[in-house]
Amino acid sequence: MNVLVLNGPNLGRLGTREPDVYGATTYADLVALCERTGTELGLDVEVRQTDHEGVMVEWLHEAADREAPVVLNAGAWTHYSIAVRDACAQLTAPLVEVHISNVHKREEFRHHSYISAVADGVLVGLGVDGYALALRWLANR
Ligand code: DQA
Repeated sequence: MNVLVLNGPNLGRLGTREPDVYGATTYADLVALCERTGTELGLDVEVRQTDHEGVMVEWLHEAADREAPVVLNAGAWTHYSIAVRDACAQLTAPLVEVHISNVHKREEFRHHSYISAVADGVLVGLGVDGYALALRWLANR
């Protein structure tokens, strides 16, 4: 099974970005973790990151056309992008929303997600382990 792990804005800066909030794991470490977990679970995992909303929308269209499951950390778009949500709504395979930090413990504007209502499940506040857990859930289905 081919799984797309899609990351939105600023997530390419993991490791240097607000380490007190997001931890010391770098984006390269995150990619390695997802690929390692995919190999362990027999999943063909492809990890991508973009700072451009239109690119993310196109990747979600690609996932919809390929009927591929998606693990999505939409970063800040989570809280305001109806375009990303509408693209998620077109997916036919499972969608797992992931956030490294516990957005509910943070600023009020992070408490609402436009994605959650169209996701199958949400993993929040478990650090980068949330990605591995999301992949494990997909593999078990
Ligand atoms: C995030 C939480 C978002 O509020 C924030 O804008 C991010 C990262 C997380 O993984 O905790 O960029 O999605």
